Amino acid sequence: MSEFITPVQVAEATAVVRSLTDKTPTIALVLGSGLSSLADGLTHADIISSANIPHWPASTVSGHKGRLIIGELEDKVVLVLQGRSHYYEGLSMNQITLPVRVMAGLGIRTLIVTNAAGGINADFTPGDLMLIKDHLNMLGMAGHNPLRGPNDDHLGPRFPDMTEPYNAHLRQMAHATANKLGFQMQEGVYAYVAGPSYETPAELRFLRMAGADAVGMSTVPSVVVARHAGMQVLGISTITNMAVPDPAPGTTLTHDEVLETGKRVIPRLTNLIHSVVRQIK
Ligand code: HPA
Repeated sequence: MSEFITPVQVAEATAVVRSLTDKTPTIALVLGSGLSSLADGLTHADIISSANIPHWPASTVSGHKGRLIIGELEDKVVLVLQGRSHYYEGLSMNQITLPVRVMAGLGIRTLIVTNAAGGINADFTPGDLMLIKDHLNMLGMAGHNPLRGPNDDHLGPRFPDMTEPYNAHLRQMAHATANKLGFQMQEGVYAYVAGPSYETPAELRFLRMAGADAVGMSTVPSVVVARHAGMQVLGISTITNMAVPDPAPGTTLTHDEVLETGKRVIPRLTNLIHSVVRQIK
């Protein structure tokens, strides 16, 4: 199987999704590890198993379901992607970002991505929410960019601008909304690494020096494709654990811990997203 997904294959996948719903979503939500239950708030939902969509990558990670839910949230038609695919699963960059190509094909203009991330910034605490203001695409800088390969100018430009990967207006709105809801959001730079092994102390020292506030294994390929397609992006990290080079002796990190902390912040994140979706024009 080729690492590249052709525009025809994107169109085929988009057509199948279209045939399975009569709704026209304008906002998409991608939910990270342990955050799937955010989709429970959708009404009049059409639920599409990703197994029914051609060329769609299968999700293999626990805590990730592999469904597409199109329904109403705060009077907006929203598409929720439950269960994203990751590069560490062995798929190509094109394959893991097909869902975003389909979103663009459906006419979605706003992408809200959530993820679980390790907190590198010492001012962070597990359970914090961090607005992503910029990212370090460690894989992209080393050649694993989802836009590598033939470019279809109908989908986006060969050399897309990335000056403002995360929309400043949406970030401002999210900050203000969090304040109204009674909490403060952190803001910072998200470093994208491949995983699936967590970082060594030396790697964390390196990322900290490079200006990263948080580190995770998702989101950035989707954001690159979304920006290529001209979508506006809001990214929110749940800081599920501290990712520091000098942890307390005996401290280790497990996926279960990541899922547990993720669950703890769901009410807060749910309120925030509901309110932000209500305000999106
Ligand atoms: N490192 C990478 N990915 C993560 C982490 C981490 O510490 N926590 C949650 N996702």
